[in-house]
Amino acid sequence: MRNFTFHNPTKIIFGIDSTNEVGKEAKTLGRKILLVLGQGSIKKIGLYDKIVKLLKDEGIEIFELEGVKPNPRVDLVRKGIEMVRENNIEGILAVGGGSVIDTAKAIAAGLSYEGDVWDLFKYRKPIKPTIPIGVVLTLAATGSEMNGNAVISNMETQEKLAISSPYIYPKFSILDPKNTASVPLNHTLYGIVDILSHVFEQYFDREEDAILQDRFAEAIIKTIIETTPKLTENPEDLKARAVILWCGTNALNGIIGVGKEQDWASHAIEHAISALYDIPHGLGLAIVFPHWMKYVLDAIPHKFANFGRNIWGLKGEDDFEIGLKAIDKLIDFYEGIGVPTKLSKVGINDEKLEEMAEKATLFGPIGNVKRLNKEDVYKILQMCL
Ligand code: NZQ
Ligand code: ZN
Repeated sequence: MRNFTFHNPTKIIFGIDSTNEVGKEAKTLGRKILLVLGQGSIKKIGLYDKIVKLLKDEGIEIFELEGVKPNPRVDLVRKGIEMVRENNIEGILAVGGGSVIDTAKAIAAGLSYEGDVWDLFKYRKPIKPTIPIGVVLTLAATGSEMNGNAVISNMETQEKLAISSPYIYPKFSILDPKNTASVPLNHTLYGIVDILSHVFEQYFDREEDAILQDRFAEAIIKTIIETTPKLTENPEDLKARAVILWCGTNALNGIIGVGKEQDWASHAIEHAISALYDIPHGLGLAIVFPHWMKYVLDAIPHKFANFGRNIWGLKGEDDFEIGLKAIDKLIDFYEGIGVPTKLSKVGINDEKLEEMAEKATLFGPIGNVKRLNKEDVYKILQMCL
């Protein structure tokens, strides 16, 4: 295991009706707050009214930035930065899924940079201390509620890129399973694929003795596989929602990845796909991950055999064979819950494979299990067709 420093400053307030804490918590962000919102789902479920009341009860002045789209756009980030500057806003409260949270983080990061915020993504300019962010999460998926990452799309350049900084961790995140009960089944499942994919990015690596992290990772994978059918049967099962919610946070709050090399090539490939085709992130990952797995299987067959034996209960001596069967089990699981694992099934053909491969390797080769250059990514994308 590698040496590591682990510091995650986000306070988690978890549970049914934990939303009631939002006024008290938001007060710690400042007196003037920018509320960042998506495209209306939280109004339909009455969450918006509830939060506005709780904030007003605490004497907080509210400014609103509405309309964050999935695959959030840099244009709205720019608008948010202007609003914060013009109105001397002191803190940001994101109410929504990963796209809303990432928009809030990008606004915060852009505020302490004098140039255009996109420079932070494209040219990796350093991110400086900035105003605090709070979160009320409404969709279990990205882990953005407890990490320092943000992923933003630029439609002009057709790029989707990430930033990461200790200064954009949420100060607090409210995780109320009730707020996730209205997520439509398709987005619930894309979220579940995203959570599994975060675990895979950290589980499948070349580090040999991060045993606790790998067992923790397996616990998350097993929990998700056991719990998902409960949600496909009854999307309003709050106990199952709670389990998935906590899995999502733990999958990408850093804890299962400490001391590990990690990979992250599949995420870079998926971001290139959704930059060009604007498909949901989890859907893209369901397509990319199994094919990436097949492409790198021979580099770490024993790790894939662990996946087969410990997750799927497969038996046998040959690690490579078990690994291959385990990947097919994963494909069966995705297809079984109605999430496709092929580009052709979401209407994407071979037209832009080269461009996707180019975008995925913008900063050079990706991944660690195998270092993938543009040609490797192109081959994986061909397997995805
Ligand atoms: O816009 P609204 O109306 O809120 O609708 C959203 C959206 O249409 C809807 N939704 C959210 N909560 C709901 C709800 N509908 C009904 N009831 C609720 N309670 O769900 C749709 C998808 O929302 P979105 O926020 O886009 O989903 P998700 O949380 O999966 O976020 C995806 C984005 O996060 C990035 C992805 O690339 C993608 O851009 N990621 C961010 C990461 C991070 N910051 O750490 C890591 C991830 O790997 C990922 O890349
Ligand atoms: Zn992801």
